[in-house]
Amino acid sequence: QTNTQWGGRFAAGPSAIMQAINASIGFDSRMWRQDIRGSLAHAAMLAHVGIISRDDEAAIRAGLQAIATEIEAGRFQWSEALEDVHMNVEARLTERIGEAGKRLHTARSRNDQVATDFRLWVRDAMDGLAAQMEDCIRAFVERAEEHADTLMPGYTHLQPAQPTTFGHHMLAYAEMLWRDRGRMLDARARLNADCPLGAAALCGTGFPIDRHMTAQALGFDGPARNSLDAVGSRDFAMEFLASCAICATHLSRLAEEIVLWTNPSFGFVKLSDGLTTGSSIMPQKRNPDAAELVRGKAGRVTGALVGLLTVVKGLALTYAKDLQEDKEGVFDAAENLTLSLAATAAMVRDMRPNATRLAEAAGAGFSTATDLADWLVRELKLPFRDAHHVTGRLVAQAEARGVDLSALSLEEMREAEPRIHDGVFGVLSPSASVASRRSFGGTAPENVRAMAAEWKERLS
Ligand code: ARG
Repeated sequence: QTNTQWGGRFAAGPSAIMQAINASIGFDSRMWRQDIRGSLAHAAMLAHVGIISRDDEAAIRAGLQAIATEIEAGRFQWSEALEDVHMNVEARLTERIGEAGKRLHTARSRNDQVATDFRLWVRDAMDGLAAQMEDCIRAFVERAEEHADTLMPGYTHLQPAQPTTFGHHMLAYAEMLWRDRGRMLDARARLNADCPLGAAALCGTGFPIDRHMTAQALGFDGPARNSLDAVGSRDFAMEFLASCAICATHLSRLAEEIVLWTNPSFGFVKLSDGLTTGSSIMPQKRNPDAAELVRGKAGRVTGALVGLLTVVKGLALTYAKDLQEDKEGVFDAAENLTLSLAATAAMVRDMRPNATRLAEAAGAGFSTATDLADWLVRELKLPFRDAHHVTGRLVAQAEARGVDLSALSLEEMREAEPRIHDGVFGVLSPSASVASRRSFGGTAPENVRAMAAEWKERLS
């Protein structure tokens, strides 16, 4: 039996393998809302310009609405023989309303149809993810306010560098996620500029359609200006995936930190039972699986981006079936970034920092050595390079004795630099160190509190 939608010139139907490799219904049925929305707009336009009758348009509208109800209720029979969501819906429409259903595809092709449906789907995903990113930022800001004074070690090279605060660290992620949100919305604006509907197969149509009308009905800024570009381009999906991949990468850095912080050797934070898992053999275990999965999922999201870039690379204009491979990666990336953002927000709100451990670690590893060097510059007018050298010698001395810088006596310090006086001890504590860093964007608790207030303003 030949295909009901395009079988006219065929004597036989597709072989089993042809059907199996060709069908996309297994994954594109999730675009059914977008497909019906696009068809409603197309039919209304066809009637408006007089290509189909008002009665046909009314029948199509009622039929599509009934189909939406069927799908929602799980009563719709998806058929692989009908390849994709577009032909499934159209065939069912004709089954329900007869003749009028067969007129819906006038001045339209599946090429502009799928380009339109997919854009609508990605646009919704962008809105949902941008909102989730905002929620994540809100979580960072809440914790930053709460922990503006909570000391923690700041690292470079994962080695003790300078003391910072848990709040400042949280706000670093707020900044990253804010840019991710902006990137997503920038991509959305570009996606939304051009509606492909009406580009038809690739060259437009001889029917007097009104593409401005359908573009507006579907919420686009206007119709795509070149029909070949409209059906053949997928950079809107690439940009979406790039935004997803960058965000997932940011989340994976925090995830890695949570994995480290919850390790008992660090002991920096604790996740509650609800966000921790156990081991089937080792009874003592508390594993941060959610964080590990957020870290891992960044890999597959980036994989989706690379996958799509590679599918489209070298593809001659315009549509080729290769482009059907654009969807699964996008769906997968959206789904997994949704999970990652939700899990991250949950972990951020859940984790309980151990202030004692964090303060201890904040002071370890001679983390206030820079403060000592700065003091030598300020108080003794040493050139910074000399101050660095003197401090380095004091660090070596303290290390040899197995003590902190603040445990060195004034006499010991004076061996390195005779003019050092006891004012130096005022700058050697982690809390003095963070309090002093009031430069714009610096880690001082008052900065963090002010910045958290700004964030709340921005998010309201
Ligand atoms: N399922 C197809 C896709 O996702 C729809 C477009 C098919 N167009 C065609 N000329 N065969 O790309």
